[in-house]
Amino acid sequence: MAALRTVTTLQELRQAREALPAPVGFVPTMGYLHEGHISLARRARQECAGVVASIFVNPAQFGPNEDLAKYPRDLPRDLSLLEAAGVDLAWTPTPEVMYPPGFQTWVTVDGLAAPLEGAQRPGHFRGVATVVAKLFNAVAPQKAYFGQKDAQQAAVIRRMTGDLDFPIEIVVCPTVREADGLAMSSRNSYLSPDERQAATVIFRALSAAKAACDNGERDAETLRRVVSGMIEGEPLARMQYVSCADYDTLEELQTVTGKALLSMAVFVGKTRLIDNFVLG
Ligand code: PAF
Repeated sequence: MAALRTVTTLQELRQAREALPAPVGFVPTMGYLHEGHISLARRARQECAGVVASIFVNPAQFGPNEDLAKYPRDLPRDLSLLEAAGVDLAWTPTPEVMYPPGFQTWVTVDGLAAPLEGAQRPGHFRGVATVVAKLFNAVAPQKAYFGQKDAQQAAVIRRMTGDLDFPIEIVVCPTVREADGLAMSSRNSYLSPDERQAATVIFRALSAAKAACDNGERDAETLRRVVSGMIEGEPLARMQYVSCADYDTLEELQTVTGKALLSMAVFVGKTRLIDNFVLG
């Protein structure tokens, strides 16, 4: 296995990127990597001649009362995991590299970024779209890999990539789950043992709604209620939203006729977790 090269500045990144064979696959991350991230890196390794990953906890996508300061970090471990997954180049920019003094240009996506996570986390997708556009500009990959767990993020990035004419194929990979169904997330590390157990209700609630849909239930409100009823039955969990929306537009549905996104945000203790299933 070739050694992983790690760079920090934009100049180093550009030089190292030039030397990579095409096509280049890119895996943007905020670090504290888990099997979900590694599955993206492995897929990129299978499909591309050169693989770049970035590790950057992007301050612009955190709200003022969110977990930026305590977001988990472990760079040495992340780099060894990326190396083991066969990544060629890791870019670990500092906040000053990404947002130098005087920075004042932002990327906003309107419709797709408005509901769901966008409604609960004002400014979140502006931060995501801006940093991903900057990462895309710098890395100039042919393919970029994202997880289905952040389904709305994937939709926003696909729209932004098309609207801004980035010649990049967006590849969305399946959610990776723990044995009991909990979707892998860096934020799972915040959960106490009791909360970790309680968090399994998310997967169980989504599975129950999917089973109802598979058995012919097409009323979107009934499917939302299946989810919220189960979450409300778990004392350590508090539902923030549950949505059954058109997969492409993310508009709430009355009736599930085609592909739909059943998604939710739940607080388990103080930890906010999101997850989704695709229906139809
Ligand atoms: O999904 C994430 O980890 C982040 O939102 C991303 C895409 C790396 C942008 O900071």
